[in-house]
Amino acid sequence: MTTILPHGGSLVNRLITGEEREQLLASARELPSISINPWAISDLELIGVGAFSPLTGFLNEEDYNSVVQRMRLADGTVWSIPITLSISAEQAESLSVGEKVALTGELDGVIYGLLQIESKYTVDQTEEAVKVFKTSDTEHPGVKKLLERSPIYVGGSVQVLNRPEPAKFGSFYFDPAETRRIFAEKGWKTVVGFQTRNPVHRAHEYIQKSAMEIVDGLFLNPLVGETKSDDVPADVRMNSYLTLLEHYYPQDRTFLGVFPAAMRYAGPREAIFHAMVRKNYGCTHFIVGRDHAGVGDYYGTYEAQEIFANFTAEELGIAPLFFEHSFYCTKCGNMASSKTCPHPKDDHLTLSGTKVRGLLREGICPPPEFTRPEVAKVLIEGMNRLITAQEA
Ligand code: ADX
Repeated sequence: MTTILPHGGSLVNRLITGEEREQLLASARELPSISINPWAISDLELIGVGAFSPLTGFLNEEDYNSVVQRMRLADGTVWSIPITLSISAEQAESLSVGEKVALTGELDGVIYGLLQIESKYTVDQTEEAVKVFKTSDTEHPGVKKLLERSPIYVGGSVQVLNRPEPAKFGSFYFDPAETRRIFAEKGWKTVVGFQTRNPVHRAHEYIQKSAMEIVDGLFLNPLVGETKSDDVPADVRMNSYLTLLEHYYPQDRTFLGVFPAAMRYAGPREAIFHAMVRKNYGCTHFIVGRDHAGVGDYYGTYEAQEIFANFTAEELGIAPLFFEHSFYCTKCGNMASSKTCPHPKDDHLTLSGTKVRGLLREGICPPPEFTRPEVAKVLIEGMNRLITAQEA
């Protein structure tokens, strides 16, 4: 069975194995080294496995400018988030274009990969922030991260020699080549991808299941890389997904695998990026609901949907499925949105993420119309474990 083409036409594979890996590792020890943080390690791995196809490395200056200015690589391929490697001024002085360098984990000294430096450039990070995040406000978690980095970037193709070990839930990590094979084995011709950085509440379930009515399978693909500190941690969330799937989803039509990327909180631009990446994992459809990848009130409720109009269906290659803000309506007695419910707001149950996290931390189950009781129980237990661990 043929699956959807990866973005750019073919799945990138920059993972080096076997004897070649041994040789490159041995020679890497003699090379100059750039130390990379967990975020950069995650980007490196995702480039290596083809999740970021067609990228074969960190963006060079030409592609960077093109992505920032027009949401495309220099060759015109749609790409909305700059995937870049920042280096210190000190490192920049000692490195030149044309050189090969080792990429070494700053925390563990592991050589994760090699970079062939094609480009070394200094950027205007405030401009990058305004273009990518639509704000230069340092209260925005993505902007804050961006402005904390040095503005000197190096770009070029990479080779991956070591991969980070998942701390937990290792059996839920699948590379794009694997998910593509798995979807084909399941006989799924159409697969809808679902991005989340949160526990799955009833509104999420509602839009997933609405999508499941028209496709063969759901790829529940929670982001488990770096998130802001007040988001629910990934391991607590993973238990809640497993519980929800066990009790409320058909096993033969759902597949759970994690997305080990960092969360940028770039709203509209991140929605495009999330869609392209899920295409690489083999999804034909991608859900974009209210304020996708948003934070605070930096983005309009449906801006992450509207941005798709900048591109043709052929350029995107994956079909976005847009959903309105969903809620439980006490009059309808079910989940609904303004597209399906005629009743006034007073009849609708909506809770903010902050409010729900507050309830869970206090050990209080949110109403079942908002969160499935089995899921609430797992989340409360998880949050309690965390609080106990933090207090110890
Ligand atoms: S995100 O940062 O990963 O987008 P979240 O996990 O809350 O945040 O959302 C996952 C997906 O569900 C996104 O596409 C988002 O737009 C959608 N979504 C979340 N809550 C709702 C809701 N109440 N109604 C409709 N869509 C929603």
